[in-house]
Amino acid sequence: MTRRFEFEKLGQDGKARLGVIRSPRGEIRTPAFMPVGTAGTVKAMMPESVASTGADILLGNTYHLMLRPTAERIDRLGGLHKFMNWDKPILTDSGGFQVMSLSNLRKMSEEGVTFKSHIDGSRHTLTPERSMEIQRLLGSDIVMCFDECTPFPADPKVSMESMRLSMRWAQRSREAFGDRPGHALFGIQQGSIYRDQRERSAELLKAIEFEGYAVGGLAVGEGQDTMFEVLDYAPDMLPEDKPRYLMGVGKPDDIVGAVARGIDMMDCVLPTRSGRTGQVFTRHGVLNIKNARHQDDPRPVDESCSCPACRNYSRAYLHHVFRAQEMISGMLLTWHNLQYYQDLMQGMRGAIAGGTFDQFQSDFHAQRAQGDI
Ligand code: GUN
Ligand code: ZN
Repeated sequence: MTRRFEFEKLGQDGKARLGVIRSPRGEIRTPAFMPVGTAGTVKAMMPESVASTGADILLGNTYHLMLRPTAERIDRLGGLHKFMNWDKPILTDSGGFQVMSLSNLRKMSEEGVTFKSHIDGSRHTLTPERSMEIQRLLGSDIVMCFDECTPFPADPKVSMESMRLSMRWAQRSREAFGDRPGHALFGIQQGSIYRDQRERSAELLKAIEFEGYAVGGLAVGEGQDTMFEVLDYAPDMLPEDKPRYLMGVGKPDDIVGAVARGIDMMDCVLPTRSGRTGQVFTRHGVLNIKNARHQDDPRPVDESCSCPACRNYSRAYLHHVFRAQEMISGMLLTWHNLQYYQDLMQGMRGAIAGGTFDQFQSDFHAQRAQGDI
C-alpha cells in the first residue's frame, strides 16, 4: 500500500477514462461513485454492507459534522474512520454548499460565511482556514477546497464575482492545507454555464496546483441538456493526469453521460434517499415499490442483482414492508440502489477497458427505453 496519494490513468475510450487512485487507505477504482455518508453514516446501511456493494470511498460533510458531534470530538475519538467504522478512503465536502442549502441567516464576506445552525440555531463561522482545520480533524483523505457554489441561474457578472471569490478561497485553502503526504486537496472549478469563466477558473486552479479537480456549480437546476453542454468542454480544461470529480451528480443517465465526457468521480444522495422513499433503480428505469401493481408480485426487483433485497425477497414483500413503514424497507431498498449504482460503475469500467463504451451506452439507453416488464 502506497504512502502517497496518486492517480493513474489505465485506459481511455473516447473521452471516458479508466483509472485508479492509490492512497494509504486503499485504492479507488475510477470511474467511481461515492455513496453519501453525510452525518457519519450512510443512512440505513452498515459500513461493511456499503463496502460489499463495491464502494471504494464514501463522502462525508464538514457542515453536518462540525455542528454535531463536532470535529474536535471526532478527533478526540480517533477520527472519522474509526468513529464510523469505515477504514477505506473518505472524501469530505468543505461546508459552503451545505451552509447555503441548509443553514439560516447566512452572511457572506471575503473572509468566509457566518450562519446559524439548522439544528439548534447556534452561530458558526466557516472560512477556508477553518474548513481545512475541520477536514484535518475529521481525518479526511480527500479534502475539498472551501468554495461558493454559484446559484443557478446567475447572470455573467454575478457568476464572475462568485467564481473569483471561490478562486481566492482556493488559494487560501491550499495554503491552510499545508503539506500532508497521503492526503489530497481538490480544487473546485466554478463559472456557471459560461465557457470563458470555466476556462479562467481552470487556469487559476491549475496555477495553484491540486491533487485533483472538481467541477462544481452543476446539477443546481440547469437541467441535463445544459449540464451536458458544460461537460462537453469543462473537464477538458482540467489536467489530464489528475482525477476529475463532478460534485452532486446524479441520476444514472447523468452519471453515464458525465463519464462519457471525461469525469472520474461522482457523489449523490439519490440512491440512498430514494431507497428510503421507495424509489428503486433498475436497468429498466425507476420502480416505485409503493405502487399497488407490486403487491402480488413474487419476482425479485431484479433477478440479475446480487444484493440481499433481490436474492431473498419478492417485490410483494418489499411493497408490504414499505407500506407498513418497517425499518427493513429503507435498509433493503438502499442496499439495492447502492448495488445498482456500483454495478453501473463496474459495467462502465469494464466497457472502457474493453473499448466498448459506445456499445455500453446504447445498451444502457435501450434497456431503459424498454421499461419495466
Ligand atoms: N456539491 C454540489 N455542488 C457543489 C459545489 O459547487 N461546491 C461544493 N463545495 N459542493 C458541491
Ligand atoms: Zn438488488
